[in-house]
Amino acid sequence: MTSPQPSFRQPPGPKDPVALGIDPETLETLRWLQREYGDMVSVYRPNGRLAYFVNDAAEVHRILARRHAKYRKGPGFERVKMLLGNGLIVSDGDVWRRSRRMIQPAFGRQNIHRLTDVMVQCSQRREQHWAALAKRDEACNITSETSDFALELILVSIFSSDYHERIVTQGENPFTFLSRDSTRDLSVVMKVRRLRELLTSIIEDRKSGKRIEQFDFLSMYLQAEDKDGNGFSDDELLDELMTLIVAGFETSANTLNWVWYLLAKYPEVEAKIIAEAELHLPDIGAVNSDALMAMEYTQQVLEEALRLYPPVWLFTRRSHEEDELEDYDVPPGTDIYLSPFVLQRTAHYWPNPNEFDPDRFLASDGNKKDRPFFPFSLGPRRCVGEYFSFMEMKVHLGLLLPRFRMQLVDESEPSLELGINLRSANDIVMKPTQR
Ligand code: HEM
Repeated sequence: MTSPQPSFRQPPGPKDPVALGIDPETLETLRWLQREYGDMVSVYRPNGRLAYFVNDAAEVHRILARRHAKYRKGPGFERVKMLLGNGLIVSDGDVWRRSRRMIQPAFGRQNIHRLTDVMVQCSQRREQHWAALAKRDEACNITSETSDFALELILVSIFSSDYHERIVTQGENPFTFLSRDSTRDLSVVMKVRRLRELLTSIIEDRKSGKRIEQFDFLSMYLQAEDKDGNGFSDDELLDELMTLIVAGFETSANTLNWVWYLLAKYPEVEAKIIAEAELHLPDIGAVNSDALMAMEYTQQVLEEALRLYPPVWLFTRRSHEEDELEDYDVPPGTDIYLSPFVLQRTAHYWPNPNEFDPDRFLASDGNKKDRPFFPFSLGPRRCVGEYFSFMEMKVHLGLLLPRFRMQLVDESEPSLELGINLRSANDIVMKPTQR
């Protein structure tokens, strides 16, 4: 354990070492630290490293936005690194800055609007499947349905027709294990290697002009240039594509999973979304960016679901320069833990924090900006796919909810699985009937 300098201003905290990871025990530990020591807590991890748990809205904003340059990504990203190499989520410093500048234009609103047709097609595929289930009086596993929806959507948004022609050639989607297989053993390494080989051959064909030019993320990434006019190398491109797939589907899938659960529990909220969808999306042809933007109540519901169940429930950072938070010193090398899950359920900011109430996000509420809400992070590293995800979730709900009444097979509240992503520990199963 490092012994602090006499003048070192350290936040309060326990004397004994405290284990922190990205796991369920850590949530309990963070809640205990908050109860016992307040909003800024210091601990020594078993490896002797100093760590701060920051649960104050202004300080979280300072770390992620105003003073972001003093921080890098923190511990707990090992598994993600194995999958994503040096892609946008895990890279830092100049490498990250260059990639972010190259990728950002692909996520401009105009481009996302061009992808709404894909969002509609993927929702229609769920609709057909659910209609068949309803007809046979069978239950629907919402957890795998939302996962299949979001995975298919991101893959078609990246690869267009290559998705059907090159990726799901034998009816099997080789990416599915990313959401269903939580074991990280050698077989996963092999599967990831095979995926990278598949992507390499798709990229080669695109580059050689064997495939016609299509509008998708792959074309946009192939055209992206840095300030010196250079594009991504093949390895960089692979890392960025894997990053887009992994970052782009599980988060939205998990959010939708929770939304379906919440709507089944709150029929009055469900009725309001249906009314909004019937007004703005009376038929498939009406789905466009204006209609989706007008769905303000659905937006509130999604935000409230993200407050209660933020998929990225815990972020870590590591300081690489000295900083000061409140009246405390932050030496270089300090691990920082920030939890949207804990902060967004802190009563001081959000009264009755465990209650689901979409009216908290009324557009007219002027106090909204003072309450901590950062499911997409904040500052320059804020999620690049935020707008895409709201659009896809609105299309999914707006098309499916008015068509199906969904009844929970098991009414009890699902327990949480707290890994890199916050999921329901058990699958949510519902009985669909056509309205
Ligand atoms: C509800 C849906 C989503 C949530 C809650 C979410 C959340 C986040 C969060 C919290 C981060 C920052 C993590 C950190 O700083 O440690 C992030 C980064 C990122 N997200 Fe999302 N995300 C969502 C959907 C998406 C989608 C749909 C895409 C792509 C289509 C995407 C692509 C990315 C990328 C590429 C980054 C890295 C950005 C950077 O470091 O510059 N995300 N996301």
